[in-house]
Parts: sequence; C-alpha cells; structure tokens
Amino acid sequence: MSHVIITGASRGIGLGLTRQYLHTNHNVIASHRPGSISDELACLNNEYSTLTLVPLDLACDHSISEFADTLNGKTISLLINNAGTTNHVEYGGWSRRDFLNSYTINAAGPALLIQALNDQLATGAKIIQLSSGLASLAENINPTGPFEEYAMSKAALNMLTRRLAVKLSEREIIVAAISPGWVQTDMGGNEAPTSVAEGAQAIASGIALLKEKHNGGFFDTQLNPILW
Ligand SMILES: NC(=O)c1ccc[n+]([C@@H]2O[C@H](COP(=O)([O-])OP(=O)(O)OC[C@H]3O[C@@H](n4cnc5c(N)ncnc54)[C@H](OP(=O)(O)O)[C@@H]3O)[C@@H](O)[C@H]2O)c1
Repeated sequence: MSHVIITGASRGIGLGLTRQYLHTNHNVIASHRPGSISDELACLNNEYSTLTLVPLDLACDHSISEFADTLNGKTISLLINNAGTTNHVEYGGWSRRDFLNSYTINAAGPALLIQALNDQLATGAKIIQLSSGLASLAENINPTGPFEEYAMSKAALNMLTRRLAVKLSEREIIVAAISPGWVQTDMGGNEAPTSVAEGAQAIASGIALLKEKHNGGFFDTQLNPILW
C-alpha cells in the first residue's frame, strides 16, 4: 500500500490538499505541529480511516526523525512539502532571527525531511515542493515590498529541488517545485483570487500530470515553467 504525505495539514493549502487526496481515495499521512490539530483536520480524521495524523515540527531535528520512525515500513508514492512560513517583515525591521526562521522551516526542513524518508520513497515517487513566484530571481516580483526572508528561503528550496532531482533520478523519482499561485489562506490573505479548494484541486491536477521531463523543474499548477 502506498501513501501520500502532506506536511502542514492543519490549515490552508495543506488542509485543502489533505481533503482533496482523501476524496480521491488515497491513503494520506498528514502532518500537524505537535499539540496543534485544527478542528477541520480532526473532523477529517473522524471521517476517513485512510487518514493518519502524525506530528511534525520542521524546525526540530528530533521531530523530523520521530516522524520518519513513525512511518517506518510504509511506502511513499507522493511527498508534498507544503508546510511553510513567512514573517512579513519590511526592510527596516529585518532581523537575523526572521531570516533564519524562514530558512529553517522552508528550506532546511524539507531537505532534512526528504533525507529522513529516503528509504521509504518508492521507485517513481513524486516529491513536490510548494514554492512561490517570489522565489523567482528572473521575475523579482514586488521588490519594493516585504518578504525578503520568505523569497530567499523559497529560492533555496528551488535549488534543493534541482539538486535532489539529479540525486534521485536513478530511482525514477520526480522532484518538482510548484507555485500554487495566490490562494486565500492565512498566508495568502482574503484578497487572493483562488479559494483553498480550487488551489488544492489545481495543485493535485498538476501533480498528476508530472512526468520524467518535468524532473527538477519549477512550474505553476498547469505545469507552465516559471523562470528561475
Ligand atoms: N497562500 C498563498 O498564496 C501561497 C502562495 C505561494 C506559495 N505558498 C506556499 O504554499 C504553502 C502553504 O501555504 P498556506 O498559504 O497554506 O500557508 P498557511 O495558511 O500559513 O499554513 C502554513 C502551514 O504550515 C505549517 N507550518 C508552519 N511552520 C511549521 C513548522 N515549523 N513545522 C511544521 N509545519 C509548519 C502550519 O502549521 P500550524 O497550523 O501549526 O501553524 C500550517 O499548517 C507554503 O509553503 C507557502 O509558502 C502559498
């Protein structure tokens, strides 16, 4: 039996993706931060026997290794590194702590999680990094606004995507960075044009179409390439 892993499933896009993959009859392992299971995720857990909730704090090495130990023996066909953070910090308010916090959760966390789960990844598995248009050096979106700590951490996640794609290619594993677009979540805000349900469906459709030729790429949800 193979499993879909979704990190950061308590709310936002991660919750939407969890719902989406449960509806389409997958066995889902959804992570939540220790001690914080949202009511919505708890409801899904009551409704679906195909859902397993496992605590994970991407800022904590011990939590990552405990997460991998809990999954020992399970085969993973899809890992979605969805969990992420931003500190919304403007120039003038920058601090080392904010830069390091975003890097720890958005870039180092997914890297260490993939390494910890390495032996459980099936041949031909897919690893998806939820990236952002803000990571694109070429586009350099809204450089007068905030989000440097976030944009820099997601650019690092993109680099991880390219490097891992080569490392894991012998196992036919596809690693891709996908930008979900602007989605109505705590991070995206109410002004965003896309609902969580629409965003999750679009991401899942894109993932279903990923092939070997996409390995190591950076795409929108329709698999149009985004410039690095
Ligand atoms: N929304 C957008 O418009 C947008 C645009 C581009 C990219 N993205 C990316 O899409 C992904 C999901 O975004 P979202 O809008 O759904 O964000 P969100 O509503 O802020 O949710 C973030 C999720 O990440 C989890 N998380 C935060 N820190 C964590 C940690 N240290 N360990 C484990 N989990 C942690 C949160 O858990 P808690 O509930 O416990 O805090 C929450 O489940 C992120 O990677 C984001 O960068 C979003």
